[in-house]
Amino acid sequence: MAYGLLNGKRGIISGALDEKSIAWKVALKAKEEGATFTLTNAPIAMRMGAIKQLAEQCDAEIIPADATSVEDLENLFTKSQEVLGGKVDFVLHSIGMSPNIRKGKAYTDLNYDWFKQSIDISALSFHKMLQTAYKLDAISEWGSVVALTYMAAQRTFPFYTDMADAKAVLESIARSFGYRYGKSHKVRVNTVSQSPTPTTAGGGIGGFDKFYDFADKTAPLGNATADQCADYVITLFSDLTRMVTMQNLFHDGGFSMTGISEDVMNLISKE
Ligand SMILES: NC(=O)c1ccc[n+]([C@@H]2O[C@H](COP(=O)([O-])OP(=O)(O)OC[C@H]3O[C@@H](n4cnc5c(N)ncnc54)[C@H](O)[C@@H]3O)[C@@H](O)[C@H]2O)c1
Repeated sequence: MAYGLLNGKRGIISGALDEKSIAWKVALKAKEEGATFTLTNAPIAMRMGAIKQLAEQCDAEIIPADATSVEDLENLFTKSQEVLGGKVDFVLHSIGMSPNIRKGKAYTDLNYDWFKQSIDISALSFHKMLQTAYKLDAISEWGSVVALTYMAAQRTFPFYTDMADAKAVLESIARSFGYRYGKSHKVRVNTVSQSPTPTTAGGGIGGFDKFYDFADKTAPLGNATADQCADYVITLFSDLTRMVTMQNLFHDGGFSMTGISEDVMNLISKE
């Protein structure tokens, strides 16, 4: 059911790789709620082709951009404003990648070149997006920028290795830039800390299936799906959340506030 929450709003949605991607679901819901937007992803993701199908479904133009390249991001914000006919009202940062995780490196044996790439792709890209938008004055007053994150920024999850550090930086950027962008342009900046979700990025993390089940059995409401995450993100893009900024918002069925659940206790009980 659509509520027209984004009627007349323009946006940029990054990170839709395939139909499992959280960004893919956000795009479908943003369309349903009345928004017009551009889609963006790294040039390599374009070659995989699935995003074209989403673009057709959403009547959206695709503007390739490597989120680590300021030049690409300048082009993204400039072209998006041309295509959409004005400043944007919302931006989704749904980007993450760690070569160390991909290649199975332990946290005690990180490759530092890859560590820099993890930080650049998964965290600094958020600063680069915000700074580019700020300098081009590309986001309207009361606009909303959301990045996706994970609770390993606050608590240790051994398999999340250097992405935990990247997410901690990402969340800090939301606060630091959120303060400045709020003061100068009334633009809001938040992160949404999502449950484990079976996507390409999520599934690439060692032991994902076991951890997914553990989180599902810990959270009183169970794990939040990508679809439900998209619903939440849409509310943050809407005018209903105008005074929410600089927050890290848990969207995890209650996992982050639960010590242990009966379900998990039953699983580990020896009787
Ligand atoms: N899946 C989970 O369990 C989970 C949980 C919490 C948070 N998140 C976060 O959600 C976000 C989206 O991930 P997802 O789970 O939908 O997986 P996904 O693999 O579908 O999306 C990750 C996206 O990042 C893009 N990307 C990688 N390098 C890029 C670059 N240099 N420039 C531009 N784009 C680039 C990929 O092409 C891909 O579209 C990530 O920030 C991820 O960390 C995921």
